[in-house]
Amino acid sequence: MESVPTSENSQPARLVVLVSGTGTNLQALIDAARKPGYGAEIVAVGADRPEIAGLERAQQAGIPTFVVAPNDFPNRADWDAALAAAVGEFDPDLVVLAGFMRLVGAKFLNKFGGRTINTHPALSPAFPGVNGPKDALEYGVKVTGATLFLVDEGVDTGMIIDQATVRVESEDDVNSLHEKIKQVERIMLVESVGRMVRNGWEIKDRWVKLQ
Ligand code: GRF
Repeated sequence: MESVPTSENSQPARLVVLVSGTGTNLQALIDAARKPGYGAEIVAVGADRPEIAGLERAQQAGIPTFVVAPNDFPNRADWDAALAAAVGEFDPDLVVLAGFMRLVGAKFLNKFGGRTINTHPALSPAFPGVNGPKDALEYGVKVTGATLFLVDEGVDTGMIIDQATVRVESEDDVNSLHEKIKQVERIMLVESVGRMVRNGWEIKDRWVKLQ
């Protein structure tokens, strides 16, 4: 059992958000964090590649950004250590992977395990990996959605914080389905992060309970 409130003494919790793409989940968090009482401040946005819309969104909001690109390192372990160091510079209470298309490694999890969360566009444990919406569509499921989880060393295997569902319709293609998923994903992300930073959470076995 564990309880980790992060925005104590009315100080907003410090969030570092990592992105790889368009950053609509990031934008939802930026918008939420502007509202009084949300309980979190985005202190930095990091990416694994330059020149992406996610970084631009951060810059437009006046949030510091950094890039730690795998190609600049001889191996994955060195990249992982550099990413952990870059995130550590901002002393986060919570790290949010919001469309960050890389697996973090042992060094990162040593430092930020238990307080790093990720969102996946499928209902775990079904359809892990980078093609969640496509795999769900091809399988023919009638309901899919998004899963918010605490990051562990596996691929989308971490303890589930929350899930949100959408119906798959016969006219859906991968893009329309992913867009539908992203709509509920953003709402779930904003709501769960807010509850986590304001009130903390408890874990019993694999059950994550937001307070
Ligand atoms: C989200 O659906 C996320 O779950 C997946 O990639 C998408 C990122 O969207 N890994 P955005 O960059 O937040 O718009």
